[in-house]
Amino acid sequence: MASLSMTQIRAGNWASGFGLNRAGKVQVGPSSRVGFKVFASETQATEPDLSVTVNGLHMPNPFVIGSGPPGTNYTVMKRAFDEGWGAVIAKTVSLDAAKVINVTPRYARLRAGANGSAKGEIIGWENIELISDRPLETMLKEFKQLKEEYPDRILIASIMEEYNKAAWEELIDRVEQTGVDAIEINFSCPHGMPERKMGAAVGQDCALLEEVCGWINAKATIPVWAKMTPNITDISQPARVSLSSGCEGVSAINTIMSVMGINLNTLRPEPCVEGYSTPGGYSAKAVHPIALGKVMTIAKMMKSEFDSENYSLSAIGGVETGGDAAEFILLGANTVQVCTGVMMHGYGLVKKLCLELKDFMKKHNFTTIENFRGVSLEYFTTHTELVRRQQEAIQKRKAIKKGLQSDKDWTGDGFVNESESMVSN
Ligand SMILES: Cc1cc2nc3c(=O)[nH]c(=O)nc-3n(C[C@H](O)[C@H](O)[C@H](O)COP(=O)(O)O)c2cc1C
Repeated sequence: MASLSMTQIRAGNWASGFGLNRAGKVQVGPSSRVGFKVFASETQATEPDLSVTVNGLHMPNPFVIGSGPPGTNYTVMKRAFDEGWGAVIAKTVSLDAAKVINVTPRYARLRAGANGSAKGEIIGWENIELISDRPLETMLKEFKQLKEEYPDRILIASIMEEYNKAAWEELIDRVEQTGVDAIEINFSCPHGMPERKMGAAVGQDCALLEEVCGWINAKATIPVWAKMTPNITDISQPARVSLSSGCEGVSAINTIMSVMGINLNTLRPEPCVEGYSTPGGYSAKAVHPIALGKVMTIAKMMKSEFDSENYSLSAIGGVETGGDAAEFILLGANTVQVCTGVMMHGYGLVKKLCLELKDFMKKHNFTTIENFRGVSLEYFTTHTELVRRQQEAIQKRKAIKKGLQSDKDWTGDGFVNESESMVSN
């Protein structure tokens, strides 16, 4: 992995103000490759304002459909806009859908309750689904139609290609021609695609990632988010490489490599396809704490190395409530994606998410998302520091136990307790 200092990273991307990008086009200011949809604030006097503007893209709320089945065709993406999602990220597309061959069954679910009782709540979801198997031409037509019908709404294309510069350039060009607002790069699908050196195979190899991000960012003229895999020791490394290679944002996390279980009657793994299986990607409520950990790691790195005006973080993993989303935002996320939650609860979930997030904001008197974005991040520290803080607190408590500092501190009301506090044992 290339190691870049703070100064190099900033100067390399934004310091010049005016300049030429790698394609020779004139760039104006630090955020020249941002969307153009910056509208006036929609704040109402009494209600908290959920709207966000991320890399120049204005969204009525921070809730984004995560790439997957909920963004797989025109009908479902239209539904998402109609229900009020802040933005939609379509199912990942590649140049040649004929190479993408899915199997059935491709999902397996984990339920809470005794022995995975069929009635228990679904808390974990494994999939071995590939990227979109629909012809690229069809998907592109649908993106174009959606942008014509919903010009003010944010549509983000998710793309993935093989290790081939010309292929990436062609895909970016064709996707941009549809009028989509931004691109998310799927560097993170953990199953199937890495067998073709795609997805997580790129996101897990920082040298490869840097090279491919270089190709992508030299070509793209709209904001690019790099989607990270959690299946790596230190997720801040690929996140740093993506941002320092020109991406405007990172998204995290994609699914976690998993095996849902072994059927104790047939002795075969699940999901079982003709008696065999392959490890898949784990999502839903059960992954939320892992996603929080990964997002916290990336947010800390971004806070110390990249300026928050120009670089964004989109958090994903197990979101089903406004509180889940608030947690991600408290760590520094600008937007929050939901995929499996929509598969389980439907598109109307966004209304509940908005209400619950507003309730949280009202409780704390926050009027905008920026009021509380990242405020919990500073409370993560090292274990050594926890020990130091605890020893200091114990010393303070002991000192207080020794009694009142001066005779003037006697209150009369608490006389018995105050006397007690000065007894040695
Ligand atoms: C069935 C299924 C298909 C998915 N397909 C894609 C995909 O095509 N591209 C992608 O970037 N992520 C894909 N994902 C990953 C999700 O976008 C998301 O990163 C992950 O599931 C964690 O979020 P969640 O708990 O809200 O689902 C898929 C997830 C599921 C469950």
